[in-house]
Amino acid sequence: LLMSASPVADGQPELVAHRGASAYAPENTLAAFDEAVRLGADWIELDVRRTRDGQLAVIHDESAERVTGTAKRIGGTDLAELRQLDAGFSFRGGAQHRSDDSRASGAAAVQRIPLLDEVLERYAGRIGLLIELKDPALYPGIEAQVAERVKPFLGNRLLLQSFDLGSLERLRRLLPEARLGALIGEEAAAEFADGDWREQARSWDYVNVQTTLLDRRLVKLLHEEGALVMAWTVRSPEDRQRLASIGVDGLIMDDPRL
Ligand code: G3P
Ligand code: CA
Repeated sequence: LLMSASPVADGQPELVAHRGASAYAPENTLAAFDEAVRLGADWIELDVRRTRDGQLAVIHDESAERVTGTAKRIGGTDLAELRQLDAGFSFRGGAQHRSDDSRASGAAAVQRIPLLDEVLERYAGRIGLLIELKDPALYPGIEAQVAERVKPFLGNRLLLQSFDLGSLERLRRLLPEARLGALIGEEAAAEFADGDWREQARSWDYVNVQTTLLDRRLVKLLHEEGALVMAWTVRSPEDRQRLASIGVDGLIMDDPRL
């Protein structure tokens, strides 16, 4: 049953481009997602937050500063203002885009913080969408908003994930047909016994685990309970090889070429 449920038909894990192909283009931008498609990744991973005026924006941190160089809180700023910022600013080493450079394209061009809707419309059906609700407790009611937006796209390969397991429960009630993944890192797992891992695996379609926690025994345990397993974040050939050899189903990587 597990084998037939697994997307890993050839025994190789699927490649998930972390925040897009973020080794090659600014994270969580259309340039990074386009690059992931071009490189043949199976999925893109992206982070969703909510702006002051209630728009669902694709950005990892609650401040725009790290990627854009401008310290604006996502939840405290309207979308129009956030869309003035260049999400490729830090990726280019803080260089201002030369607006007179008509040759600039892809990673070299000004990048806007994408909307979740833009990503759904542009990529659903072309590549899997692994959508993380980031700090959902900061944005009360975000689960209902995300559920409404993704619902028309559930016929495509789409997975919702969060570190916040209460948020996943709310998503399950709102959208029982959606596939859901629990993100488990070292902090949460410090309290975990085998029974806790088994409970997570029984509760969700995927358990997406920090690389340092994964060994053959844990992957087997999670598979026994019917979950698929993705590893995050894979950044070396050694880790890639080790995680593939212990049977994980997906590798979440900044560099899909790895
Ligand atoms: O997809 C897993 C990974 O994205 C979780 O960590 O901080 O990169 O969102 P983070
Ligand atoms: Ca993420």
